[in-house]
Amino acid sequence: MEKFHIAIDGPAGSGKTTVSKRLAELLGFDYLDTGAMYRAIALFLHEKGISENDDAEIDKALSNVKMEFKDGKLFLNGKEVGPEIRTAEAGILASKYAKIPIVRKHLTRLQREIADSRRIVVEGRDIGTVVLPDAELKIFLTASVEERARRRWKELKEKGESIPYDEILKQLKDRDERDSKREVAPLKPAEDAVVIDTTNMSIDEVVKNIAKLAKEKQKWK
Ligand code: DC
Repeated sequence: MEKFHIAIDGPAGSGKTTVSKRLAELLGFDYLDTGAMYRAIALFLHEKGISENDDAEIDKALSNVKMEFKDGKLFLNGKEVGPEIRTAEAGILASKYAKIPIVRKHLTRLQREIADSRRIVVEGRDIGTVVLPDAELKIFLTASVEERARRRWKELKEKGESIPYDEILKQLKDRDERDSKREVAPLKPAEDAVVIDTTNMSIDEVVKNIAKLAKEKQKWK
């Protein structure tokens, strides 16, 4: 089958992960969560005590680290990446290390290799702009920052992490600022992306909309 790349970008809490997973399931596509890659690498570097400012050490560590994508799962040095990457702290670390060009270079190359000839939904911040500029379909999801904070708060609470709403709102604003103002691959919609504001939409509606767009594009291939 011919390759078909669907890029789903957007800020934290825009519904990217849930939407991307369901979309991939509905279309029978693979699914790659690039945020999980940044989170796993950030935790790895942090645990090794390598600072965000130490380019040489980061480069060395990344040249030796093995990240693989098998059966839809991510492995770091042979070990499956698990729920440890889903904490608020891991998100903050990911956003910090994601600013470093050498980290992005390494992960971008890996993401392209994974997507290569697949039919795949790839979720992230810079997929439509940098990683897969020739993606057949590019979607940029947004939602108001208050709604995104509410979603994140609920998600963390369900996982037993009870963090005050105001703190999450502040963390999200800081993270948006870091992700969109960084020099390399900042968070922004690709020129040819379809922007969907999910503030008042259900997950189902969003997924159906994107699936429809994907089917239309497939017809022309
Ligand atoms: O989507 P997420 O919250 O799991 O992403 C965690 C962090 O990783 C996010 O703050 C920014 C970074 N990231 C990135 O810079 N580029 C990507 N393609 C995906 C994530």
